[in-house]
Amino acid sequence: MPNHIILAYSGGLDTSVAVHWLKHHHNAKVTCALVDVGQPLEGIEEAKARALSNGAEACHVLDAKDAFANEYLVPAIQANAVYEGAYPLATALARPLIAKQLVELAQTVGADAIAHGCTGKGNDQVRIECGIHALAPEIQVLAPQRSHPMTRDEVLRYADEHGLQLPPIKNSPYSIDENLWGRSAEGHDIEDPANAVPEAAYAWTVSPQAAPDVPGTLQLGFEAGVPVALDGVPLHLTTLIEKLNAFAGQHGVGRIDHMENRLVGIKTREVYEAPAAIAILAAKQALENLTLTRDEAHLKPHMEQTFANLVYDGKWFHPVKDAVQAFVQTIQQNVCGTVTLQLYKGNVTVLSTSSHLALFDEALATYKDGDAFHHQAAEGFIELWSLPQVLAGKVRKAKPGIEAIW
Ligand code: ARG
Repeated sequence: MPNHIILAYSGGLDTSVAVHWLKHHHNAKVTCALVDVGQPLEGIEEAKARALSNGAEACHVLDAKDAFANEYLVPAIQANAVYEGAYPLATALARPLIAKQLVELAQTVGADAIAHGCTGKGNDQVRIECGIHALAPEIQVLAPQRSHPMTRDEVLRYADEHGLQLPPIKNSPYSIDENLWGRSAEGHDIEDPANAVPEAAYAWTVSPQAAPDVPGTLQLGFEAGVPVALDGVPLHLTTLIEKLNAFAGQHGVGRIDHMENRLVGIKTREVYEAPAAIAILAAKQALENLTLTRDEAHLKPHMEQTFANLVYDGKWFHPVKDAVQAFVQTIQQNVCGTVTLQLYKGNVTVLSTSSHLALFDEALATYKDGDAFHHQAAEGFIELWSLPQVLAGKVRKAKPGIEAIW
């Protein structure tokens, strides 16, 4: 039996009630930890007071915003990490950091268990628990929503019976998760992919129809594949992402409606908003086109997809993730320069790119005066390049094409 439990606390209905349930079910001390990864924190003081009133020893708000940006979003941006071609992985990237923060707090206060409010159906339970097990296998994990699931009505009844304090009623019917890198909405009427997503599911973006008729332009400066300046002003990544979320969101950029394959085998309809992520990744792709060799450009998508899958699958602390990350970091060293973007009614267009490390060489590429390309060299190149086809053609002439198989 645990003596002291760290509860991953959001201040929402389930975790507000879980404080009391865990304390009495396990006859243990409960300390709440709310990890700030850039989600809106309105009502935070009330949430802390509620945790104490419902039985917690203490409620810590752990500021992990900069750690999230520097240690998790930097590699994700470098890796162009997008799951199934759609989801920039906001929730998935935050979970290992949350696990790390919970473990560190448990070690500081001498707690022997960590509890979370994830259900048995989601990816988040896997990510949080894989993180805890990798970092501190001795810590026991409790998942009351899985071991003793309660419906919403049962939670409310339990709260009423025990005189617990509850958060104000939410005005959104969706299950929402938010952090610096994006927002996700699931459940209710958007669960069924046959339903169109209503405006009410979105909060960070205006609809493309309602976006301004005048396009917005902005310039992003990159160093080693990471955005470091907005419109020429150097900014910390956290601030740059916050500003870009607001600006791109106003132009209707960043809406993603995705039928997703979850780790636990089911398909779910997910609605994401990630304005900064969409703009940054579009700009960086253009800069990579300018600065990477053909071989680097062709090899890296495989590694990037592996990285994205590892993040999605809760393998942040797996050594293979570090190896893939090292590859990505190496490739990104030369992705430096500036990109000008235009944002218009939900679309991102790259207007221009420039870099002191550009591999574009005007003298080699131009059809105008000053052409330095060695045209005659192409002749010998083609002779050798075509040699395998020429040889095969000569030898197999009798049975060309598909028929050669039979
Ligand atoms: N499907 C996404 C993922 O697995 C988002 C999950 C968000 N969680 C939520 N409670 N809305 O990363």
